Amino acid sequence: MSDRRYLLDNARVEAGERFTWLAELFDGVTRGHADWLGLSPGWRCWDVGAGGPSIPEALAAAVGPTGYVLATDINPTWLNATGGYEVRQHDVVADPPPQPGTFDLVHARLVLVHVPDRARALTNMVAALRPGGWLLVEDADTELQPLACLDEVGPAQQRANRLRRAVRELMTRRGADLRYGRTLPQALRAAGLTDVAATGCFPVGGVACDRLEAATVRMVRAELLAAGLADDTEIDTHLAAIDAGELDLTLAPLISAWGRRAD
Ligand SMILES: C[S@@+](CC[C@H](N)C(=O)[O-])C[C@H]1O[C@@H](n2cnc3c(N)ncnc32)[C@H](O)[C@@H]1O
Repeated sequence: MSDRRYLLDNARVEAGERFTWLAELFDGVTRGHADWLGLSPGWRCWDVGAGGPSIPEALAAAVGPTGYVLATDINPTWLNATGGYEVRQHDVVADPPPQPGTFDLVHARLVLVHVPDRARALTNMVAALRPGGWLLVEDADTELQPLACLDEVGPAQQRANRLRRAVRELMTRRGADLRYGRTLPQALRAAGLTDVAATGCFPVGGVACDRLEAATVRMVRAELLAAGLADDTEIDTHLAAIDAGELDLTLAPLISAWGRRAD
């Protein structure tokens, strides 16, 4: 039977580093969308697969003492139980939705792409919304822009792109859908949501992209080697090139899609 476990397991020390850099790269995007949807004092929010503390903290600051924020994850190790939001271990597929029909905002970023039964996850998230509440789902579409280096000018960039393909292959073997981002508007309409819209963005170059790539490659090194998708020399040379700051690394586009449960 194939192994469908989440590849970038939060039990690894590199997960915390990844959350720091994901926050640096995408929290501004997420917060912009949440603000645009009307996030305000008194709202009840659920952050699904929250990973690190930055989005639950930002939501808690926005909803204030009259609001409520629930942050869940299959492994909530990196969340802060005293951070002004409730933390729960929760599997968005296997566990029933918490407090069904009550949330003003349900959000998941870079979660469903990794979850093999993502249709069930979406159904559970929609069930948690109050009538009129918003679902905001943000997911990568790695096939839309699969490169680590947009400008493949030399061997270091070619190596980076080859290793990015190898990491994608590992994710696909674990059940990730690397074309999921583009399906979000249709998936949200099919889930019965109204006022569905979406946008996409990706960063190009910079320290956060470099640090995220280094943490990710170190995290999956053993799996890459075991699968014969890379060797030690290739990985070490790539990590050194990242440290030298010569790659202008980029990421897959993040597609942010939102829709509202009918009143
Ligand atoms: C790539 S991280 C993204 C974390 C955070 N949302 C962010 O954007 O920085 C994916 C997160 O989803 C969680 N996750 C994976 N499968 C899950 C599931 N079935 N239910 C809940 N969380 C899950 C992982 O543990 C991890 O924290």
